[in-house]
Amino acid sequence: MDTIYIKSPLNYVGGKYKILDQIIPKFPKYIHTFVDLFGGGFNVGINVDADNVIYNDVIEPLCELISYFSDKSSDEVINNLEKNIEKNNLNKENTEAFLKLRNKYNHFLYSNEEEKILDFYTLILYSFNYQIRFNQNMKYNTPFGKNRSSYNQNTKKNIKKFVDKMNSINLKISKNKFIDFDFSKLEKDDFVYCDPPYLITTGSYNDGNRGVKDWTIEDEKELLQILDNLNSRGIKFALSNVLVANDKRNEILTEWSKKYNVFIIKNTFNNSNYRRKSKNDTIEVLITNYGEVENE
Ligand SMILES: C[S@@+](CC[C@H](N)C(=O)[O-])C[C@H]1O[C@@H](n2cnc3c(N)ncnc32)[C@H](O)[C@@H]1O
Repeated sequence: MDTIYIKSPLNYVGGKYKILDQIIPKFPKYIHTFVDLFGGGFNVGINVDADNVIYNDVIEPLCELISYFSDKSSDEVINNLEKNIEKNNLNKENTEAFLKLRNKYNHFLYSNEEEKILDFYTLILYSFNYQIRFNQNMKYNTPFGKNRSSYNQNTKKNIKKFVDKMNSINLKISKNKFIDFDFSKLEKDDFVYCDPPYLITTGSYNDGNRGVKDWTIEDEKELLQILDNLNSRGIKFALSNVLVANDKRNEILTEWSKKYNVFIIKNTFNNSNYRRKSKNDTIEVLITNYGEVENE
């Protein structure tokens, strides 16, 4: 892929970095306020050219981490992080140090919010698959990514580019469930991008283990209703999703998408060894309420 895009230093499950070259060119040419309604690792919002950007996500510690990246310089983030890794003795093999820090994060009463955010990010970098998972009581419970996950030169490079760009955008952070987001202030040149959990696949954000509820059919319908409302107000949107996956079709979405433009995304789930030559291959899409139609 083109290397013009910035990669989030959060290796997010369901992150859209690999398909940015198929998504971003389909966004409107001029965007006044860009809303990344399911911001996650912020791979999309960080790469969009807009006067203002709003990052929204339901996971509070994640929102705080994004806010930290935007308030600090890249040198500060990298220095603080490297010191914290050293202080906590973290490396690829040290399970005990990881568990000790996780325990501290979950039970220590922090008087310094920044220390807590830094501990959270340090944990993520040494977690299994870099996953961010909480139990129902919002205790972080991702296991150690032994011999696999770590802070390295690549992470450092990604942090530098990401934070430098964060420092240059007009960013607002919103910690809401998508239904509670205030859409009423949006106007014609604003643009809402949605990358919700997918109803028919499971990611770690959709397994009920994140202190947030599973993504349900009700959520799906409410989101589609919100998008219809935006459409009737003349506000542009784009929705990332899958129409077919794991031998299942999302019938609600398929039916709904017929009103709009459906762009098929090439070669992500369907690549390499996992490729199955069946008509049930994953169909990943970007659905927009503007622009050219490029149906199957
Ligand atoms: C697929 S990820 C987004 C990945 C992001 N586009 C990227 O490329 O880095 C979906 C995000 O939706 C968030 N989420 C799940 N349920 C939500 C809800 N009800 N309201 C707002 N955000 C939600 C999750 O916390 C997760 O971060």
